[in-house]
Amino acid sequence: MKSIVVLVSGNGSNLQAIIDACETSIDTGRVTAVFSNKATAYALERAKKAGAAGHFLDPKAFDTRDAFDHELMKQIDEYRPDVIVLAGYMRILSGEFVRHYMGRMINIHPSLLPKYPGLNTYQRAIHAGDEEHGTSVHFVTEQLDGGPVILQAKVPIFDEDNVETLTARVQTQEHKIYPLVVKWMVEDRLEMKNGKAFLDGEQLGIHGYAQE
Ligand code: GAR
Repeated sequence: MKSIVVLVSGNGSNLQAIIDACETSIDTGRVTAVFSNKATAYALERAKKAGAAGHFLDPKAFDTRDAFDHELMKQIDEYRPDVIVLAGYMRILSGEFVRHYMGRMINIHPSLLPKYPGLNTYQRAIHAGDEEHGTSVHFVTEQLDGGPVILQAKVPIFDEDNVETLTARVQTQEHKIYPLVVKWMVEDRLEMKNGKAFLDGEQLGIHGYAQE
């Protein structure tokens, strides 16, 4: 059984989608541990209900980002992770942390990368008058939200949309694509080489896997 470790900071709806998929479609993986940098993250409750270990690691207890990430790495590695999943983990990662898990660590970001890396993507898309928005699953590299994209989902933006309605529409898609990519990871179908993502040995394009 492959060990999946999930990092969270908040609600954990993506964590839940992955936990649920491990019950149904991901036969050879399970969520062994969930780590949060926020004590009150509801994701920790979800972990508990699912029988996965839940840990809160307090950034305030460490002098530097490097020291925090070093301890986090030590604790994560006790679960011998095959896949590290960032699911709404809202902390910048140190270089050492990223390099340690390179090729094994994925993130979901609420935009059609490379458009809108960083924060407030919904406001930015609405404000720009975009007709579509979406979400991207990508390998994590040292460039913030800049690693190679594996899979995206697009949604329309309607005139009457606001941040809440658009977030809900995007998250519905996240709950479909993130478990699928975790399944591909667990099945060893994905690889990162020379900064590019490969699925079943085929190099993926700038927007990730797209069915022709
Ligand atoms: C997700 O929508 C994810 O795209 C976003 O945080 C949300 C977490 O929701 N991630 C980022 O913004 C990372 N830059 P969840 O806690 O309900 O899964």
